[in-house]
Amino acid sequence: MNREYVDLRSDTVTRPSAAMRAEMARAEVGDDVYREDPTVNRLQEVVAELLAKEAGLFMPSGTMSNQVAVRAACRGGEAICEADAHTFHYEMAAAAARSGIQLVPVAGTRGVLTWADVEGAIRPVADYFPRTGLICLENTHNRAGGTIFPVDVMADVAVKARARGIPVHLDGARLWNASVATGTPLAAYAASADSVSVCFSKGLGAPVGSCLCGSREFVEEAIMVRRSFGGAMRQAGILAAAALYAVEHNVERLGDDHRRARTLAEGLADIPAFSVDVPETNIVMVDVTDDAFTAPALAGLLEKEGVSLHALGPRRLRAVTHLELDDADIERALNAFEGAVARLRSS
Ligand SMILES: Cc1ncc(COP(=O)(O)O)c(C=O)c1O
Repeated sequence: MNREYVDLRSDTVTRPSAAMRAEMARAEVGDDVYREDPTVNRLQEVVAELLAKEAGLFMPSGTMSNQVAVRAACRGGEAICEADAHTFHYEMAAAAARSGIQLVPVAGTRGVLTWADVEGAIRPVADYFPRTGLICLENTHNRAGGTIFPVDVMADVAVKARARGIPVHLDGARLWNASVATGTPLAAYAASADSVSVCFSKGLGAPVGSCLCGSREFVEEAIMVRRSFGGAMRQAGILAAAALYAVEHNVERLGDDHRRARTLAEGLADIPAFSVDVPETNIVMVDVTDDAFTAPALAGLLEKEGVSLHALGPRRLRAVTHLELDDADIERALNAFEGAVARLRSS
C-alpha cells in the first residue's frame, strides 16, 4: 500500500485486511441456492438478529438489495424516495427498468423526509392515478453528506405509512454509522422499516456484500426476485465470512472515522476558501466559496499531490473517511489542501 496516498473518494475503497482474508480462506461453504452454505446462513441470522427482523438475505451489492426490496415490497406503481436518494440517482433507473415502478423523488432536508414531506406525494385513490406502494428512506444519507435520519422522525413516518397500508424500505447501507454516532441500536432504526438493506463494503472493510432483512414471508419473495435479477450465488460463504468478520470487528471503530471526518472538516473550515458542513458521520461536504478556482480544479491539483476526492459539482467536494486512513493521513490531506489553495490563488 502506498502510505503517501490519501484516498478520500469513498469508504468503499478499502481492501480486505489479512485477518479478514484468513477468515475468508477458512470459511465453510456449500451451495447457497440450495440454502446449504453454513457461513451465508450464519451471516443472515446474525444480521437479522441485529436488526430484529425475522430473516435476512445475503446480496451481492447494495444496489441489488435495494432493487430486490423495491420489487418485492412495492404494492403499487409508485415508490416515494428522497430526491437525493441513492436509489434515485445511482441505480440506473432500475426500479422502472426491472420492475415497472416509477420512483417519486421528494425533496427532504439534509436527506431527512418528514411525514409532512411524504404525505403530499402519496397519491389519492383514483382510477387515473398510480398507487403509492412503497416509501424508501436512506440512513445515513450519502448525497446529503452522511447525515443521520433521526430515529423518532423515522418512527413517525413508519407509523403513519402503516396506517395508510404503505410499507417502508430502509436503505441502510451505512446504518452502522448512524448507530455508532448516536448510540441508538440498529434495531431501533430498523423497527421503522418493513425491509432494511445494510452493506458490508462501505466503511466495514468487506470486499463485497449486503444483507436485506425483513419478515420471513418478505425474504422468501426476495429470494425469488434476487434469482430473477441474477443475484443467486453458490459458494458465497467465502464472501459472507468477510462480512461476518466486518460486522464483528469493524463496526465500533467507525467512531474513529467520524472523529477524523470532524478533524478534517474543522481544518478545512479554517481555510477561508471553504464553507464546510459539520459532518454527522464519515462524509465531509465542502463548498468552494473562493471564486478564484472551482472544485474540479482543486480536486485535480490535489490528486497530483496524492490526495484523492470527488468533486460533486463546480463548487462542491466530498471527502469520506474510512478504516485505511489514520490521523497522519488527515494531517497530510489538510496540508495538501492548504498548499493547493495557495497555488490556485497565485496562478
Ligand atoms: C446509500 C447507498 N445505498 C446503496 C448503495 C449501493 O451499494 P453498491 O455499490 O454495493 O451497489 C450505496 C453505494 O455507495 C450507497 O451509498
